[in-house]
Amino acid sequence: MNIRKIRKDFPILDKKIHGKKLVYLDNAATSQKPIQVIDAISQFYKHHNANIHRGVHTLSEEATKAFEDAHTKASKFIGSTFEETIFTKGTTESLNLLAYSLKDKVKKGDEIVLSQMEHHSNITPWQVLAKQKGAKIKFLKINKQGALDKKQFSEVINKKTKIVSLAHMSNVLGTINPTKEIRKITAENNALFILDAAQTVPNIPVNVKKLDCDFLAFSGHKMLGPTGIGVLYGKKHLLEELPPFQTGGDMIEEVNFKESTWNKLPWKFEAGTPNIAGAVGFGAALDYLKKIGLETIQNYEHIISQKLIAEFDLLDFVELYGPKTSRGAVFAFNIKKLHSHDVATFLDEAGIAVRAGHHCAMPLTSTLGINGSVRASFYFYNTEEEVMMLISELKRIKGLLTK
Ligand code: ALA
Repeated sequence: MNIRKIRKDFPILDKKIHGKKLVYLDNAATSQKPIQVIDAISQFYKHHNANIHRGVHTLSEEATKAFEDAHTKASKFIGSTFEETIFTKGTTESLNLLAYSLKDKVKKGDEIVLSQMEHHSNITPWQVLAKQKGAKIKFLKINKQGALDKKQFSEVINKKTKIVSLAHMSNVLGTINPTKEIRKITAENNALFILDAAQTVPNIPVNVKKLDCDFLAFSGHKMLGPTGIGVLYGKKHLLEELPPFQTGGDMIEEVNFKESTWNKLPWKFEAGTPNIAGAVGFGAALDYLKKIGLETIQNYEHIISQKLIAEFDLLDFVELYGPKTSRGAVFAFNIKKLHSHDVATFLDEAGIAVRAGHHCAMPLTSTLGINGSVRASFYFYNTEEEVMMLISELKRIKGLLTK
């Protein structure tokens, strides 16, 4: 992987912030976009824009083909099939869709199992469902390293469990969760196994058939694509059983004055005019990632992570949360005695973009006993030099504190 060449594809990486070179370390929130994605969206609007599945005219056929090609690319990217790959606005909508459409599968007294490290989008839809149905939500606990101890799985997941919905990788701790063990125990208890894969699909090879999950959600914008486009994968027989989330145009087979029947998969879950240009841009993003290869990306981010962990180990004023192994390149930390927002503001002055606060995971923040953290999250276009820039800025900030 030629980082120097890759970085040339991302125009924004040349931007100066407060007169300093931008060091973009907020990739878990959203990734930057290469020129190939920006151009694909622009080309679509310049040359192919029309609505899809509705016209017999040439432009509509071109737009339909571009949109369906993006579905094919997304399905191949995760080892799924065309019918099982639904486009949504992103992970949040995918999980809301599921919590809504699974409503008939949950009744009073049933249990839904999540973990303490979930993003709000994998908590709140289940809270709404649980409240409506009189179901109970249980949380798998994290240990001191910020990982899930496997021992608790058989204590928490049982015959009452209808749904287990877990982050594949924590957007705060970087922890990659043990899917094999969870799959086994959910299967034994006949519970559905859902993965919020917003942080893994962009960074490591993910194959839904190998994971054997029932559903999996992720977003395009964290993997070079535009905002407003994402995926819900579901096993075909389950998607066929579930009622649609939204109804209206394009998702119907037939409508009369009394009732309607639904379109085949995946369109049954894609009501209304979708984000066509977004899908085209997402398709270009998938092409870009495929060309580099997810294994290459994973290996490179592993090197970056090891470098950062080794450097953090030398800083006694930094408290790092999350495990040192089985993790991705997302690092939440605090400088002792400093508020995370202050650290992020200091870093911004140096051109370094990080996120600070609760990272849309307030229950995790309170479990850690902190009021927030700084989060540096890396992608394949980040460099070891940028790791060292972060480290030297943290030292400078600490120096200011002791002056
Ligand atoms: N889920 C995104 C994050 O973790 C927004 O920052």
